[in-house]
This record gives sequence, C-alpha cells and structure tokens, in this order.
Amino acid sequence: MRTLIRNFFICVVVTIISASVILEDYERNRNSLLEEENVHALGGKLQLDSEEAILNKILKQLKEAEVDESFKNPNRFNFSKHYFTYRDEISNSKVYQIIKRMPKGGALHVHGTLMLGADYLLNLTYQDHLYTCYTDDVFELQFSDAIPQRHCPVKWTLLTELRRVSDDVKAFDAAIKQHFTIYSEAQEDIDIIWERFEKACYVIKSLILYRPVREKFLYDSLKRFYNDNVMYIELRSGLHSLYELDGTQHERMYMVKLYQNITKKFKQDYPDFIGIKLIVTKHRGSDIEQIRQTLDFARQIKREVPEMFAGFDLVGQEDKGKPLVDFLPALLEAKEEINFYFHCGETNWFGMATDENLVDAVLLGSKRIGHGYALTKHPTLMATVYKKGIAVEVNVLSNAVLSLVHDVRNHPLAVFLALDLPVVLSSDDPGVWGAEPLAHDFYISFVGVASKHADLRTLKQLALNSIKYSALDNNEKERSL
Ligand SMILES: *[C@@H]1O[C@H](CO)[C@@H](O)[C@H](O)[C@H]1NC(C)=O
Ligand SMILES: *[C@@H]1O[C@H](CO)[C@@H](O)[C@H](O)[C@H]1NC(C)=O
Ligand SMILES: *[C@@H]1O[C@H](CO)[C@@H](O)[C@H](O)[C@H]1NC(C)=O
Ligand SMILES: [Zn+2]
Repeated sequence: MRTLIRNFFICVVVTIISASVILEDYERNRNSLLEEENVHALGGKLQLDSEEAILNKILKQLKEAEVDESFKNPNRFNFSKHYFTYRDEISNSKVYQIIKRMPKGGALHVHGTLMLGADYLLNLTYQDHLYTCYTDDVFELQFSDAIPQRHCPVKWTLLTELRRVSDDVKAFDAAIKQHFTIYSEAQEDIDIIWERFEKACYVIKSLILYRPVREKFLYDSLKRFYNDNVMYIELRSGLHSLYELDGTQHERMYMVKLYQNITKKFKQDYPDFIGIKLIVTKHRGSDIEQIRQTLDFARQIKREVPEMFAGFDLVGQEDKGKPLVDFLPALLEAKEEINFYFHCGETNWFGMATDENLVDAVLLGSKRIGHGYALTKHPTLMATVYKKGIAVEVNVLSNAVLSLVHDVRNHPLAVFLALDLPVVLSSDDPGVWGAEPLAHDFYISFVGVASKHADLRTLKQLALNSIKYSALDNNEKERSL
C-alpha cells in the first residue's frame, strides 16, 4: 500500500514537473515564433538610440490604448468606416499628433495638381480675370483678359460677377467647392467615385493652368507638405502647357522650368527642404503614338533639366484603361533610357489585365510600383519585388476613398509590412479628399493597418525607405538621410 502511495506521489510530481516543462517549452516556442515575425517585419531590425527608445515607449502606450479601445468596441473603430466620417476627428489622437511632427522623408507618389484642398482652390477663384462657363452640367474655368472664345452653352461670365449677383455667397461658394473635391457622405461604387474623381481633376487642372496661379499653387503646395514634415517630393505630372491672360500658350518644357524656379525659390526660403523631381505621366486611354511622344518629351527633360527628372508613368483608372502590354513596343524602346514608375495592380480583380500589369511592370524594370494593391495575389512577383528592391508605393487612404478597400485592416499593406517588402507610404491626391499631405496616411497605416506591435521602428524605417527608394542620386540621398 505504502509503495503504491509513493509511486502515485512520484507519478503526480513527475507529471506536474513535466507538464510545467512542456508548458515552458511551449511558451518559449510561442514567443520565439512571435519574435521571429517581429524581427522579420519592416523596421524590425532597427536599433533605437536611448532618446528614440523613450519616445517609443510613450508612442507604444498611446497606440496600444487606441487599438485596445477599438478591439473592445469594434463599432467605434473608425478605420473600418468611411474616411469622411472620421477625418476631422483624427487631429484629436495623441498618436496622430506625434506622427504629424515626425520627419517623414519624401512623398514619392503624389499627383502635382491634386496636392491642395477645396478651401484653398476656392480662394483662387477670388482672383481677377477668372471667367466661367457655369450651368448645372458644365463648369469650365479660364483666366482671360477678354471673354473666352471657346464654346459655352450659356455665356462666359466673370466668376466674381456671378458671385456678386448671387443671393447667397456662402451657398454659391459651397457649390463651387463641390467641384474641387470628391467628398461624399456615403461610400460609393468604384466606377461612380472614379467618374467624380476624374471630373474634379479636370476642373482643378483648368483652374491652375494659368501661369501665375500655377506658380502660387506650387509654392503653397510645397509649403503645405513642408509643414507636414515632408522634405522631398516626387511629383507625377502630365506637364500640360500653361497660358497667360492674353491667351499665349507656353511650350510644355516651360512648366518644367517653372517647377525648377519655384522649387529653387522655396529652397531659399526653407533651406532644409530637399527638392522635387518629376515623373512625367500620360493617360492610359492614350494611343501608342501619344505614349511615344510623351516618352520623347521625357527624354528631352532628362537631357535638358536632368536634376528635375525622375521618370515616366501611366495614369487613370486602371481597370478601365489600356494595360501596359498594349504599349509594349514604345515602352521597350525607352526602357534603357527612361526609368519607369508604373501605377499597377490598383485593383481588386485577380487574373485580369489590371493585376497582370504587375508582371509587365516587373519585366519592364519599373523602379517602383504605384499601389501594387493586387501584389499579394502574385507570390512569385512579390518575391521578385523583395529580391530586386522594387519599392511599392502604398497609398492606403487613396485606396479607401477610391473604394478598393472599406476596412483598412484588410489592406494588403499589412502583409507587405509583415514581409518587410520595400514599402514607401504616400498620399496620391490628398487635396481631393481633404487629407493632410502625408500625416493622415502615416497615421491610418500605423494604427489601422500595421500590427499592434509595430512601433517607432516601423515609422522610422518607412521614412528611411522614402529616401532609399527615391530617384535622388547617392550624394543627395546621403545628405537627405
Ligand atoms: C473616432 O471617431 C470618433 C467620432 O466619430 C471620435 O470621437 C474618436 O476620437 C475617434 N477615434 C480616434 C482614435 O480617432
Ligand atoms: C482663404 O482666404 C481666407 C481670406 O483671405 C483666409 O483666411 C484663409 O486662410 C484661406 N484659406 C486657405 C485654405 O488658404
Ligand atoms: C526661371 O528663372 C530664370 C532665371 O531667373 C528666368 O530667366 C526664366 O524665365 C524662369 N522661367 C520660368 C518658366 O519661370
Ligand atoms: Zn496615383
């Protein structure tokens, strides 16, 4: 009996000990798996200095509080809602306030005409000599010292005059502002939102093709990005011809020189600003001859103003435009001379011309990929992008507003970050949806998309990436870092 009891006792002890050993083992394996994922995620290998570590501790506490609060109350989780429902609340977040002040390096995916918001553009309509052709369906703008000769179903009228005779200036201005934004109460279908988006682009462009206005617009755009702690910008631009009051049209190269002059002036005023470079764009709906002409123009800029030149890209709604393969002969001809920065895979489709644009972008040697939203569906390409260091320009807010993703937790950026793909964050067209130049995109990506464990190292690596994967030369990169 005694032996039996003793044996039983030993047995229990052994079981307890081995159970605790097993538990300890399990815990260790579990932690090392999680740790391995953390180390391999974007920024995971960065070492913080002691000051950064202090900031990181504060930042982590604030971020965890925000994320945990949402985890407990998913109905209050803002980032699964339409951006416009929470946009104006963002500035209350402490995490946001830190991110706002953070040096963000460069914004590498920004469209030149869409950097400033509706309030700013409305102010521009207060300038003299602005004529409008304005009906329920038409809204055309042109600066001129005489009545424009272009067709108009009603009568070209000075906008200041229309405003003066309107019964309600506030309502009049609100109606004008509507044309400069794609703000909407509800999330809209992707084609409808793109239609509104392209309309807004058209109206905004017509307002800022007047040379003096463009000069002001560019300077003020740089200022706004600079205030967001963005020190360098790669602007995508169609580089259309600017005009003067008397109707004189400048050649397209004039715009490049204007960009150069204004940037120079800006750098005199703000010497720590690094500068801008241009990515020349053409609409995807164009024919191959127009693409060839634009590539020739790109070659000319590269020859005449090399310090302003980054490369070439195609723009417009990708699902509706022509795929890259349609322009293959022209693109192959230019491939050795011109760097490509293709928008591609900006789609929810899989196995279509749009996501397969990713294949062509990689084969054509694209230096970076604009959006690359569909990349997770192409693991072979994803491996190539990683190996070759082809940066993915992620614009979370743009994808949300333009109806690719409604709950940003599902954005593929989460996977890109976990895999440490070469990612840069940008903002695409922040003016059209009234976002901050880059801080909103950083904040939403950091709190809404990235892991709860992602910390200051993630943010720092993203800023570093924006210099590393830019079109700056090695000297400029070193100075910028
Ligand atoms: C989310 O939005 C609500 C208002 O809709 C706001 O009170 C709250 O502060 C927001 N939360 C965050 C983290 O921005
Ligand atoms: C528009 O102009 C008004 C009056 O000059 C000014 O107070 C306001 O800050 C301007 N708004 C923007 C967005 O520039
Ligand atoms: C740029 O500046 C130069 C030198 O001041 C001037 O000659 C030229 O006209 C300017 N060009 C544009 C497009 O502003
Ligand atoms: Zn874009």
